[in-house]
Amino acid sequence: MESVSHEHRKFPPASAFVKRAHISGEDAYKALYSKSIQDPETFWAEAAEDLHWFNKWDSVLDTSDAPFFKWFDGSRTNLSYNCLDRHIEAGKGDKIAIHWEGEPGDTRDISYAQLHLEVCRFANAMKARGVKKGERVAIYLPMVPELAISVLACARIGAVHTVIFAGFSADSIRDRVLDSETRMVITGDGGYRRGKMLELKKIVDEGVADCACVKDVIVVKRGDDHPVDCPMQAGRDAWYHDLVADVSDVCPAEEMEAEDLLFLLYTSGTTGKPKGIMHTTAGYQVYSYLTSKYIFDLKNDDVYWCTADVGWITGHTYIVYGIMQNGVSQVIYEGAPNHPDEGRFWEIIEKYKVSIFYTAPTAIRAFMKWGDNWVTNKDLSSLRLLGTVGEPINPEAWIWYHKMIGSERCPIVDTWWQTETGGHMLTPMPGATATKPGCATVPFFGVEPVILTDEGEEVEAGILAIKKPWPGMLRGIYGDPQRYQDTYWCKWDGKYYFPGDGARRDEDGYIWILGRVDDVVNVSGHRIGTAELESVFVEHQDVAESAVVGIPHEIKGQGLIAFVTVIDGRAHDEPLRQELISMIDKGIGKFARPERILFSSDLPKTRSGKIMRRLLRDIAEGKELGNTTTLADPSVVEELQKQYLKA
Ligand code: WT7
Repeated sequence: MESVSHEHRKFPPASAFVKRAHISGEDAYKALYSKSIQDPETFWAEAAEDLHWFNKWDSVLDTSDAPFFKWFDGSRTNLSYNCLDRHIEAGKGDKIAIHWEGEPGDTRDISYAQLHLEVCRFANAMKARGVKKGERVAIYLPMVPELAISVLACARIGAVHTVIFAGFSADSIRDRVLDSETRMVITGDGGYRRGKMLELKKIVDEGVADCACVKDVIVVKRGDDHPVDCPMQAGRDAWYHDLVADVSDVCPAEEMEAEDLLFLLYTSGTTGKPKGIMHTTAGYQVYSYLTSKYIFDLKNDDVYWCTADVGWITGHTYIVYGIMQNGVSQVIYEGAPNHPDEGRFWEIIEKYKVSIFYTAPTAIRAFMKWGDNWVTNKDLSSLRLLGTVGEPINPEAWIWYHKMIGSERCPIVDTWWQTETGGHMLTPMPGATATKPGCATVPFFGVEPVILTDEGEEVEAGILAIKKPWPGMLRGIYGDPQRYQDTYWCKWDGKYYFPGDGARRDEDGYIWILGRVDDVVNVSGHRIGTAELESVFVEHQDVAESAVVGIPHEIKGQGLIAFVTVIDGRAHDEPLRQELISMIDKGIGKFARPERILFSSDLPKTRSGKIMRRLLRDIAEGKELGNTTTLADPSVVEELQKQYLKA
């Protein structure tokens, strides 16, 4: 990661782009940024004026119960109203909201007026099944339009959605459903991925089998011409299309209070138990709206495409809420980037004349590997802005993206943010910031980053911290206010938000993200806590202990290496390895499979018994071992290292 931060090339935005941009030129950015820091309340109040409020706020920011901050307290609003009704009232109902493309090639174009209608109908269907404001609804769907419709229908009636990425296992569904006491689950019979049908309903059935809180399971039919085995449980299960067939089209948006819970999204931390990140209504609304507008420089004639799944925060903010509040047209694609061939993404860009494209570094590295030929025979001239998200991008991939996809014409926004931050925090302003390959550059309006030591002294390279609250910030961890304070606000005595990333400031004042400083690993942009894998492994009867570390990976960014201590006398061979892998599939999901599992008779520990992960990382990266003098038994690492090199 260090090498990334010694990249010196600089790419100023093209003057044609700057001229038309919302934030035009560096001086414009600097002026507005300093206003946002000196007088945040005025800055955010002005931004909020663009949106619809049933009732305006009494105060913009209330810090009296920090770190439980309140934004736009006293206001009443509704996210679904701002994503839909507002555009229809402005005469834009016929504009396409979603160009949807299924993996097999089936398509649906949905206007804002049609989307509004579908959201109202499904919202009424949920109400008819008894869903009330404040109740939790889990959504486990492939990337079909009903995913966005379900999210917006929840927001419309004030139900709290908790979207579970469709790659998660039955056990992961169970954990999330129980933690949030979900009353309804919305799922599908299946979804297409690389030509195959993922059978989701079966996974849901297994996941919620013992969850008494779940009263309803609603099933979206995707497998029309594809027979899917989808048993329906009488009294609990219903088909989505049956429910929306006989309900009214009219569903007034619920007037939500500013701090009413909008959604929960579970994410990984340093323990084995994922955290239910809480996002509330008014602040998230304004932050998702404004970051989308400025960072993607959204204009009325844009066609936007974000390749993330709605199951992650990127999809919540930059497919649904932020993008739709800006009323632009977007592409949503169901399937894999290499189906039926490796040119699929570029074909979609050509077909829909996509102007803004937002994807992950891991995807860019895969495209590089697949070869330029998939790109060069496509017309990508509609593109005007590119973005990346989710993990650090290596300069080589950045340059490829810049040249091959952006024809050296499109600015690239490398956006650093998190599930917890709700929206972009560090990112170039596309019409203002000269970019550097691999650098997240400068803060968004109202965001004040600092780089600190553990003791809280400002330094050039160290731990990233955020000084002030911002409207899109998380409001807590569901059911665990103490964990919220401990995880994010205790490191520097409540003075700063602690995101968990390392960072460095360069000679231009730009910030480079250096990766996580905790035991969170980013595999293909999927955030995984090493402790989650460890807690799965130790459930195996032959496993005494385990430690999982992240190592650099050419395509995935990071990969996982698992060290597993087997109980004396038990076999550690291929069958055990297979059993452990299937436990990960079942306990978390296939995307969390480690690259390698190494068996050992012990793990390197200090004399006080603490596992020395630093040494495990050295072994896994094939590096020379760092200081081993504090080890209780140095022979343990030697044995592990021998085994690692052998395999
Ligand atoms: C972690 C958050 C941001 C939405 C998707 C991931 C890493 C994210 C970048 C970037 C370097 C990045 C950080 C962060 N990360 N974006 N542009 N450059 N690192 O959200 O799953 O909550 O993960 O992803 O380590 O803490 P998430």
